[in-house]
Amino acid sequence: MKKITKAVFPVGGMGTRFLPATKSIPKELLPIIDKPLIQYAVEEAIEAGIDTLIFITSSSKHAISDHFDPMPDLREKFAENKPHLAKKLDTIPLEVKRVFVPQGQPLGLGHAVLQAETLIDEDEMFAVILADDFIQSEVNPLKPLMDAAINSQQATVSVEQVAQERLSSYGVIAPKQWQNDVTKVDDIVEKPVVADAPSEFGVIGRYVLPHKVFEYLKRTQQDHSGEIQLTDALFEAMKGEGLQAVKLNGQRFDCGSQEGFVLANLHVAMQDEDLKQSILKALS
Ligand code: G1P
Repeated sequence: MKKITKAVFPVGGMGTRFLPATKSIPKELLPIIDKPLIQYAVEEAIEAGIDTLIFITSSSKHAISDHFDPMPDLREKFAENKPHLAKKLDTIPLEVKRVFVPQGQPLGLGHAVLQAETLIDEDEMFAVILADDFIQSEVNPLKPLMDAAINSQQATVSVEQVAQERLSSYGVIAPKQWQNDVTKVDDIVEKPVVADAPSEFGVIGRYVLPHKVFEYLKRTQQDHSGEIQLTDALFEAMKGEGLQAVKLNGQRFDCGSQEGFVLANLHVAMQDEDLKQSILKALS
């Protein structure tokens, strides 16, 4: 079975909930303390065995490619006197390939993923990572997804239980029957009204998909807001080859929302003894 070595990072979104910060930088560059969301996502991918990073970008924003620029001159300058800073400049190992593909038009997540079509081989599965779903976990969240996808050769999504009132912000699945943390999926709906949600399991921003998903995406119609939804293509994949879900084993912060972003920063800050003491003091 071919290894999964490519990951697609849709990073062309507007980030409207973080304006004006996102006027000139993508929301994926917002930092959790000192490290941008996209870098956490890239590190997770590389740790899971990914060696090709495909960023689907908005054509007006180049900050992500700048962020991953190796900056050899600055590195050399720091190397002697400030080696800890030199190390911080190494955002991606040099042997990891990076590809930047402009999305052209902001037509939604499905449209963004479709832009990677020519970079994925026909017999290859690939990961999709939404960096604004920030995950802290002991086990790399991509690995169980990859294992389940490789075993079944089916599109596989990561899910977690979501509070009822928030279900309408997610793709929501109907699980068939959980076996350990994996289930076949009987239904998947994009952002349902709560009364129509098929379960409490919301899809979070980690997917492993077969090449065939591009066929479904090409046939997917724009929704009422003009977007091509990945969820709609996955519904067709479910009817065709089948769809699976894997329960996330870890803590996720929705950094597409201000609340999630602040909580993620607090969570990471509390892992640093000095910051923790300062926070506890300020709150007492
Ligand atoms: C997207 C997907 C949705 C998924 C969510 C996970 O929505 O369309 O199905 O549940 O990501 O974060 P967005 O957050 O871009 O509105």
